[in-house]
Formats: sequence, C-alpha cells, structure tokens
Amino acid sequence: MRQSVVVGTGSALPPRRVPNAELARTLDTSDEWIVERTGIRARRIAAPEAKTSDFAVAAAESALAAAGLRPEAIDLIILATATPDQTFPATATAVQARLGITGGAAFDVAAVCSGFIYALAVADALLKAGSHERALVIGAELFSRLLDWDDRATAVLFGDGAGAMVLEAREEPGPDPRGILAARIHSDGRHAHLLHVDGGPGSTGTVGKLRMAGREVFRHAVVNLAAVMDETIAAAGVSRAAIDWVVPHQANRRIIEATARKLDLPLSRVVLTVDEHANTSAASVPLAFDVAVRDGRIRPGHLCLLEAMGGGFTWGAVLLRA
Ligand code: COA
Repeated sequence: MRQSVVVGTGSALPPRRVPNAELARTLDTSDEWIVERTGIRARRIAAPEAKTSDFAVAAAESALAAAGLRPEAIDLIILATATPDQTFPATATAVQARLGITGGAAFDVAAVCSGFIYALAVADALLKAGSHERALVIGAELFSRLLDWDDRATAVLFGDGAGAMVLEAREEPGPDPRGILAARIHSDGRHAHLLHVDGGPGSTGTVGKLRMAGREVFRHAVVNLAAVMDETIAAAGVSRAAIDWVVPHQANRRIIEATARKLDLPLSRVVLTVDEHANTSAASVPLAFDVAVRDGRIRPGHLCLLEAMGGGFTWGAVLLRA
C-alpha cells in the first residue's frame, strides 16, 4: 500500500517572547484572566521587517535536516497561511526559490487555522495518486499583523511562527502501515462572519483586522472538532483507545480540554503548546507536533490524531502513524 509517511519535522519561532503581563501594560487585561480563560501565558511576535516566508524557510530547513534530505528531493510544496508575503505569487513559491528547488509544484492553501490539516490532506492525495514523491507541507503565519491591538478580546489570543513536515510516498506492506491513515476536511461558509478579517489585499484594496465572536466560535469548535475526530478515527478503522497522541490546534486550552472530554481522551495523551505559542493559526499543529517529536513523546509507530478548526468555518482531522 502506498502511504504518505512523515520522515521529518521542523519548526521556527520569532525570538521575541511576549508574556501576558506585557500586553496588560497597554490593554485592559491581566495575566490571570488570559491564563484562566485560554491557558495562554506568552506568545512569540515577529520583528516588523520579518516575513512569513522567513519562518517557513527556517521550519522547512529544519524538517529537511531531520529527514536527512536535500531540498532537491522535494517535488511538492504546500504552504498553509492566512498571512502570505504578498497577494501573489504564492508564498510557497518564495520558499521554493529560497530553498533552491526549481522543479515540482508549489502553492498556498488558505483555510486559516485549519490550513495545515487541509494542506496535509491535499499532499496525501497527491502522493497516493502517484504524481509526486516527496512533499514539504508547511504552516506559517504572522498573525500579529492581522490583530487589532486595541481589542483585548482578540489581541491576547494569537502569535507568530511556523511548522513543517516532510512526507515521502512509501510502500508500507505490513499490518500497521506508517503514514496518513485517514484525512477528513470540512467547511461551512455560513459562519464566515463569526471569525474573519474585515478587509484585506486583493479585490477590496483594503487592509483589515481580525474580528471574532469568541463565545460562538468556542461553541462551534467543540462540536465540529469532536465530530471530525470521530469521523477520521472511524475512517481509519481504529479505536479511540488506540490513539497515542492527540495534536490539536492550539487555540484555547479550554476548547482542547472540552473536546478531549467529549471523546474520553485523557489529557495525558494531548500535546499542549498553547501556553507558550498562543494561537499561531496554520502553524499551530505542525509546531506542536515538532515539539512533541523533539522532546521524545511522539515516536515512530505512534498513532497521532491531528485536528484544527478555523475561520470559514473550516475544520478537519488527520490520523497518522508516525
Ligand atoms: N481580558 C479581560 N477581559 C476580557 C478579555 C481580556 N483579554 N477579553 C474579553 N474580556 C471580557 C469581555 O469584554 C467580557 O466582558 P463583559 O462581560 O463585561 O462584556 C468578558 O471578558 C467575557 O467575555 P466572553 O467573550 O464572554 O469571554 P469567554 O469566556 O467566552 O472568553 C475567549 C473569551 C475569546 C477567550 C473565548 O470565547 C474563546 O477562546 N473563544 C474561542 C476563540 C478561538 O479560539 N478562536 C480561534 C479559533 S481558530
């Protein structure tokens, strides 16, 4: 069976760490409120001159090094972002050029916080179809650029960063194949107004800021995530109990806890990085995955369930054996 196997992961964060107390100097908020309602203690914020592709390239280089591959081995780059370097060309092509890759295909995916799950699903389909052999899948965001720094209900929630995975098409003949076992993605555009940017480059010629109805997003997130996680587990034909690690989108500790409770998944098997990264949108899942690979929690053979939900609404999950 031809499988899309994760052969390397990497991540990159801006050096500047901004703790809650620093935001409380300019916003009517407190460390206590933010920690209690979200689990967030700090986030990384990029320097003004930094670009999304800077972190995407750094995460990609780290993933390629972990995989022991040279860039020219890659024939597919899919980059998930809501904060591209420019309206066009795709940031994936900037990454391609900076890595010295001149062949294959490179394109961006726009599904906001679910972007990495969408990108993994597309990469898996292309690898399994046989048109590509090795994919670099990246989630990279500078969400700080979209924030209204006067809105305490959103400014405290997000951060910047990037994460990457290298996937290789491999024949996996055994009973427990490695690689992506199931991927499910959904969207429902009726809810766009609950989480959106009120402008943006392109057809409107305006620059917007992130707007969110937090409580309603919260409610939809728990329901949608629990449903798609169960759908993905069922599609792969495994049991919930067999899952070694849940790697959730790191939006809010309470969403993660409520979803885990709904599915009877113990928190001891959930990777949490929201405390230090906050919500990095499309970067959050690959960032968390890379942290857990590097600290030795996720090991080859482990069953990992990745999930995310974001603006659109979009949501999805991927079950893979590391
Ligand atoms: N500091 C202090 N108070 C704040 C605050 C902050 N940073 N942000 C909001 N508040 C206030 C509100 O103004 C409101 O005050 P009021 O009652 O006087 O009007 C109060 O806290 C309660 O606001 P509410 O929005 O109902 O709080 P909540 O418990 O729902 O928590 C979120 C707010 C944003 C943390 C929560 O709704 C959430 O996490 N939603 C999901 C958001 C998310 O993850 N989105 C991304 C998905 S990809």
